[in-house]
Amino acid sequence: MSYRAVVVEEGTPPEARIRTVPGPFAVPPGDALRIQVSHSSVNYKDAIALTGGKGVLRALPMVPGIDAVGVLADGTEGIPAGMPVLVNGAGLGERTDGGLAGEVLAPADTVLPVPDGLSARDAAAIGTAGFTAALAALTLERQGVAPGGGEVLVTGAGGGVGSFAVALLAALGYEVVASTGRVPERGPELKALGASGVVDRAEIAAGGKPLQSARWAAVVDSVGGVPLANALAQTRYGGVVAACGLAGSSALPATVMPFILRAVTLAGVNSVDAPRDHREAAWNLLAGHISPQIIGAIAPREVGLREAVAVARDVLDGRVAGRVVVDVTA
Ligand SMILES: NC(=O)c1ccc[n+]([C@@H]2O[C@H](COP(=O)([O-])OP(=O)(O)OC[C@H]3O[C@@H](n4cnc5c(N)ncnc54)[C@H](OP(=O)(O)O)[C@@H]3O)[C@@H](O)[C@H]2O)c1
Repeated sequence: MSYRAVVVEEGTPPEARIRTVPGPFAVPPGDALRIQVSHSSVNYKDAIALTGGKGVLRALPMVPGIDAVGVLADGTEGIPAGMPVLVNGAGLGERTDGGLAGEVLAPADTVLPVPDGLSARDAAAIGTAGFTAALAALTLERQGVAPGGGEVLVTGAGGGVGSFAVALLAALGYEVVASTGRVPERGPELKALGASGVVDRAEIAAGGKPLQSARWAAVVDSVGGVPLANALAQTRYGGVVAACGLAGSSALPATVMPFILRAVTLAGVNSVDAPRDHREAAWNLLAGHISPQIIGAIAPREVGLREAVAVARDVLDGRVAGRVVVDVTA
């Protein structure tokens, strides 16, 4: 059955078009489940792919979209067709066709039921951003960080990953300090999401000493570069820094001092290839702690497939407030 999709095609630069396609261009190896997609979202990676940027789509033509929410098209092993399901990452919109389409094939072990209490729109609004924030929270927990242990810094807090990290960690009982380059616009919103303090991104943007005044029990970083190096240098003895992203830079201009003198742990977070038990734990955490009000505050905007292409440039230029949900049926 044919379906509508955003297709990024060869060109200089590659161009995204809405097309009706007879089937996927690239499919996952192994067992895959077919999902009738109702919602996706425009993540940072999707915005790069939609604007013809390099490094996301491994082959062209391909359908972008690292999030897909919808219903199972075919029943499988006691799971009926029509069950609401979601998938984040898993190579969608990178290695194989993604969620900005009426249908997608996803690796079977990455497809989860949409948690009770969440709508398809809610699940797409949370999407990879919220999923990654939850993986980061679980990473801190696995490394022994617990609420009541001191302040947790969230960098890039005005972005999707950062906003969900602030909201989730605050809901879990952590004392969260949000770092943003948009204090006047995003400061009050971040406090409404649960941040106890908001600091200007400039405070950690300039190069600093290898060890600085120790403040953070933990850090969730989606920025990379100098801010990540400074966050490491400001982390207390035994603290944990979860590195999630590179919105500022992929560089890490740090020294080993925080590791050998303060026993700081730098832990990686990868949403794309997360194993199923981590996926389930992350979505249980989100379903239990992120309210529809928080979702609405972080992801107020919904667009159709055509607008998703137009909105991508704004996402890359930092002109979009909050996450953008895509109704792929519109
Ligand atoms: N590890 C994973 O599996 C995973 C999953 C999802 C995303 N990511 C990565 O995480 C990062 C954030 O993703 P997102 O969806 O949250 O993106 P986003 O919504 O665009 O947010 C990125 C935020 O980073 C901050 N920022 C942007 N440019 C900066 C700069 N030059 N210096 C310092 N801060 C800057 C801004 O925060 P303020 O406005 O608050 O300053 C911006 O809102 C991206 O690099 C993305 O690829 C990784």
